[in-house]
Amino acid sequence: MNVQNMKHTADAETVEEGLAIAEAQDAQYNDEMATETAMQNTLLTPRFYTTDFDELDAIDVTPVREDWDTLIAQMEADPNKGHFKKNEDWDHIDWDGMEPELKKEFIDFLISSCTAEFSGCVLYKEMKRRGNNKDITQLFQLMARDEARHAGFINDALREAGLRVNLGFLTQAKKYTYFRPKFIYYATYLSEKIGYARYITIYRHLEANPQHRFHPIFKWFCEWCNDEFSHGEAFALLMKTDPKLTSGINVYWIKFFLTAVYATMYVRDHQRPAFHKALGVDPDWYAHEVFTKTSKLSEQIFPITLDIDHPRWQKNLEKLHRANVRIAKAKEAGGFGGKLAQIGGSLAAASAFLSLYFIPSKKHDVPASVRLEPAY
Ligand SMILES: [Fe+2]
Ligand SMILES: [Fe+2]
Repeated sequence: MNVQNMKHTADAETVEEGLAIAEAQDAQYNDEMATETAMQNTLLTPRFYTTDFDELDAIDVTPVREDWDTLIAQMEADPNKGHFKKNEDWDHIDWDGMEPELKKEFIDFLISSCTAEFSGCVLYKEMKRRGNNKDITQLFQLMARDEARHAGFINDALREAGLRVNLGFLTQAKKYTYFRPKFIYYATYLSEKIGYARYITIYRHLEANPQHRFHPIFKWFCEWCNDEFSHGEAFALLMKTDPKLTSGINVYWIKFFLTAVYATMYVRDHQRPAFHKALGVDPDWYAHEVFTKTSKLSEQIFPITLDIDHPRWQKNLEKLHRANVRIAKAKEAGGFGGKLAQIGGSLAAASAFLSLYFIPSKKHDVPASVRLEPAY
């Protein structure tokens, strides 16, 4: 099939169609560097997940039926069909003229975003394939459809820089991490909501400061984040079907995932100073802004939020970031000294993480109805 005559991933109506288009593109264009980067599995790089699909399939959405049907109807209406492709708003990018540090960090950002989008796609698609519960398979089919479009669009942007993440290869070759369903809910709910908060914060910032929009992809972030918002809503409803998931011992797990997701974002973003400078965004301000929004949203379902204004919060995030820089430098240095320095860095990182985790959290009552609409 000729790529030029082919339908675009943005117009794909199902995940199967979207992936078939992506596969045909892979066959014509492949890039080892981008795929290799996407293959990396460290604490900070996006992972692929698998779970107990039968347990997920057994969920009964009757307790949230009304909200569920409304959400599914919104997603079925597919307001973003055809949106995720280049059009006249897409500006030409002079990749060769881009400042090298910025180029490196921005490409890293695109590859990591593409991998994260595709990680959602693979998990959701697998759930849809394995399930028999109509409510569940329908939801996961719709979410997989969206993520395939998102990943496809980022690949469009990468291709202009002469790169492409081979999604078919990743599906086959990337390591899958097993998470119990409840951990999938916490982690995926949070990653969808934090994804929304990240995209909308950048979008609003660039709306007010268009001189910092150094790449056209940011113009697409508004509709994009609305997709992520709906996905987060779906996971909130899934959790709402079983009160045990958000009470008792599980609150400690929720706190763990909140801390891990926030801390990972902080450390990962602080690895990209040139990228944030070009956007005109102070990464500390950005982190605080995104955490504030995500916390506010997560009150819809979680009975606690993290105290991000506690004196230990920022201090230990910075400590975690420094430890991470130390680990990276030690790895590069290698040898016995490097190994020792790596262990030292890991211990410092663990102690910073524990200190963050044990900051007393803020408790509150969750509303009877979970549903929210994007408001930022
Ligand atoms: Fe997405
Ligand atoms: Fe999503």
